Amino acid sequence: MSRKLEFVDLKTQYAALKDRVAERMQRVLDHGQYIMGPEVKELEERLAASTGARHCITVASGTEALLISLMALGLKPGDEVVTTPFTFAATAEMIVLIGAVPVFVDIEPDTCNIDATQIEAAITTRTKAIMPVSLYGQVADMDTINAVAQRHGLAVIEDAAQSFGATYRGGRSCNLSTLGCTSFFPSKPLGCYGDGGAIFTSDDALAQACREIRVHGQSARYTHTRVGVGGRMDTLQCAIVLAKLERFEWELAQRHALGARYAELLRDVSGVRLLAVRPDRDCVWAQYTVFVERRAQVQAALAAQGIPTAVHYPRPLHRQPVYAPLHRGPELTHSIAAAEAVLSLPMSPDLTRSDQDRVVAALAQALAPS
Ligand SMILES: Cc1ncc(COP(=O)(O)O)c(C=O)c1O
Repeated sequence: MSRKLEFVDLKTQYAALKDRVAERMQRVLDHGQYIMGPEVKELEERLAASTGARHCITVASGTEALLISLMALGLKPGDEVVTTPFTFAATAEMIVLIGAVPVFVDIEPDTCNIDATQIEAAITTRTKAIMPVSLYGQVADMDTINAVAQRHGLAVIEDAAQSFGATYRGGRSCNLSTLGCTSFFPSKPLGCYGDGGAIFTSDDALAQACREIRVHGQSARYTHTRVGVGGRMDTLQCAIVLAKLERFEWELAQRHALGARYAELLRDVSGVRLLAVRPDRDCVWAQYTVFVERRAQVQAALAAQGIPTAVHYPRPLHRQPVYAPLHRGPELTHSIAAAEAVLSLPMSPDLTRSDQDRVVAALAQALAPS
């Protein structure tokens, strides 16, 4: 069998950053402020500036970012949050965890992002927020979503776990709505070497609430003014993200170039349909996902040639055992169809052109009529 490719090549990335990462980590080990050390503030300032948001609050993970955001908005049991079913479980999970109810709206069949034109019909007197997901690294239709939210007095939380660095109509993902939440899970566009995440907002009161909730609701040391969580991001992980920032613009350019090259190479491969990218935004390709026919067979054929693939996601949340009983609306046919056809191919800034050629050739071969 040929050499096995990495689905996400973090080893080459680490090799390129090894000295900077070691230096940054050593500095933390020397000063010893492992929790809420100076790197936490430094990272928050750098990230806020890069998105244009007034505040960045680092937290323990992308999941924690969603939870703390929902808590900061003061959502109560029984409140409703309109969201997409075609996402990682954490999106709806955090809504349910605080006792609120996710109301699932179908996706656009070509981008797999929430269909913003269907949101208004899902709003009731109990709706408090809309939570779109910028899936695969492409921002959802935020202007339409924000306009609906404004008409109904709702907050918007962008689940930007997969889209840090993406642009939308001149703005940056994470700074396009009331709150933006991202993840620094290692394979994300901007990852750490463990768990981490961040919340972005330009609302001073919400930022303060998030900061307090992150540390058990403390407004001052041992003064607990609200219910919070233990949701801090370690200083060491912040130091790692700071080291990675030095390469991040180059990595984004690589993601764009590799995404464009995949599209070019796959455009005429029969049995493959490309994800649409709207002309007013870009995609940072957290995953390079396409739609294929005969997916199980294709995956097996690629695996036999040492090419790993993944399915993001095989079952929409309104069809998951734990969330299915909550779904009251119409059947979400585009989400179901996407779940049957999506296939993510190897993607990371260090994917070489020759490995990319190998993936495309294997895919074309697997889909060729026999
Ligand atoms: C869309 C989405 N939301 C939330 C999360 C949760 O992020 P984390 O793994 O950092 O908790 C992820 C991570 O996979 C995600 O892809």
